[in-house]
Amino acid sequence: MIAVVHGVNLNLLGRRDPAVYGTLTLAALEASCATWAQETGDTAQCFQTNHEGALVEHLHDLAGVASGVILNPGAWTHSSYAIRDAAEFLATYAPIVEVHLSNVMEREPFRRHSVLDGVVAHRIWGKGADGYREAIAWLAAGSPPAAR
Ligand code: DQA
Repeated sequence: MIAVVHGVNLNLLGRRDPAVYGTLTLAALEASCATWAQETGDTAQCFQTNHEGALVEHLHDLAGVASGVILNPGAWTHSSYAIRDAAEFLATYAPIVEVHLSNVMEREPFRRHSVLDGVVAHRIWGKGADGYREAIAWLAAGSPPAAR
């Protein structure tokens, strides 16, 4: 099972700054992820929360359950050492791909820094929903150790 995990404000997809994040809703994105996972012979389990502790506990619960994790923590990417620590724990069980819909490298400077640096196996940004498809394919391909 591939876990697709979204953090704060990502429930607003489709309504939130469409010029930056596109018009796809979170429900539609999650449905696409389920389809893409099925195409690789896997399943996707999707989760979103606006509560930091709930995200931390969800990451704990995925240990030993998910074979791969796609993680878009939203703004917590740039600030939450608690989520980094939980991800560091989970990464000992399964590879984590950090995905951002927008091009975080070409927006405000604070978005260039990710607390997940050194913890995640792979990072994808700026490709919208296609980034999730790429992440699923990357995990299905066996998440090459050289890229970790
Ligand atoms: C985001 C980028 C973050 O900087 C921002 O806070 C988000 C969404 C993205 O998917 O592009 O909420 O993670």
